[in-house]
Amino acid sequence: MKRVYSGIRATGRLHLGNYMGAVKGMLALQETHDCVFSVVDLHAITTPYDPSSLQQNIREVILDFLAAGLDPQKCKLEIQSRVPQHTELAYLLSTIYPVSRLEDLPTYKDKKAQYPKYINMGLLYYPVLMAADVLLYKGELVPVGIDQEPHLEVMREIARKFNSVYGETFPEPQRFKTEGEYVPSLVGSGKMSKTVEGSYINLTDDLETIKSRLAKAPTDSGAIGGNIPQEGGVANLFTLLRLFGGKEMFTKFVQDYHEKKIRYVEMKEVLAEAIYKELQPIQERRKEFEQNPKLVDEILNTSISQCRQVAEETMKEVKEKMGLVS
Ligand code: TYM
Repeated sequence: MKRVYSGIRATGRLHLGNYMGAVKGMLALQETHDCVFSVVDLHAITTPYDPSSLQQNIREVILDFLAAGLDPQKCKLEIQSRVPQHTELAYLLSTIYPVSRLEDLPTYKDKKAQYPKYINMGLLYYPVLMAADVLLYKGELVPVGIDQEPHLEVMREIARKFNSVYGETFPEPQRFKTEGEYVPSLVGSGKMSKTVEGSYINLTDDLETIKSRLAKAPTDSGAIGGNIPQEGGVANLFTLLRLFGGKEMFTKFVQDYHEKKIRYVEMKEVLAEAIYKELQPIQERRKEFEQNPKLVDEILNTSISQCRQVAEETMKEVKEKMGLVS
């Protein structure tokens, strides 16, 4: 069975971008593949964070994973820092990868611009640790959004380099794409993101919250007509409608737009209902897990000890190949 790995940073509750770009892919793959899905806490600490809420943030992601339908009978759930082999492998892999290539990555440059006073080694090292995450389990498929493609490229380069220097060891991981690989922001430009206030809808939002978040999303006067724009607030609403509203609704509002009779209040109402319809069962399942913290701990403990075993096998092979053990 092909192996799969994906991770989400421990920055709190998941939003629709995380869900459509990553979790939907995880749900599909757990049915047919050998999967590990992780809360990557070590990646979360590369940008400013509050240590006193880190444990809670880890928990929120785990609860959202379980609520969304990740099933511990079908996949393993992991907390990255509880499998220390991640950092061990990351260090070994860092010895074969050029610093200049890491400095050139768009994700690193973005973070540097976003947090000019928080440029640390961990940030530069981020893609190496991410490569180690996947390669530790010899993952072949990685369900993540399109924004992660540069990191996947680094992973493949590291795998190739390791294989050529030390002998065939790792597969070259490919991204598993979902329909929602890029969920746009609600603020009119860019992607839906935790760090941009007003840009996101969380999986735990109730109908009223979804409506009020959508109400603030920018549109135009509704009198423009012609083709739907490629970017901006209106384009983003149509993308969300395509992802959540079904074909019929999408076609109806496209038609309304062409005919200059679109009413964005109505479109936002329909969209809010459609999003909530998808989220409601997730929210109900979440409550069950919230009320049963012991069960969640048991699931994690079992899963994490299985992960450590697989991780140890890879580390043994890597250390032998690198001449660190005989
Ligand atoms: P993070 O926490 O930033 O994002 C988690 C996942 O959500 C996806 N995503 C989106 N997809 C579509 N539209 C959006 N607006 C959107 N916003 C976020 C991301 O693509 C990602 O799949 N570096 C990873 C974490 C990580 C990882 C790994 C992933 C660490 N190690 C190993 C896979 C394998 C990240 O940025 O997570």
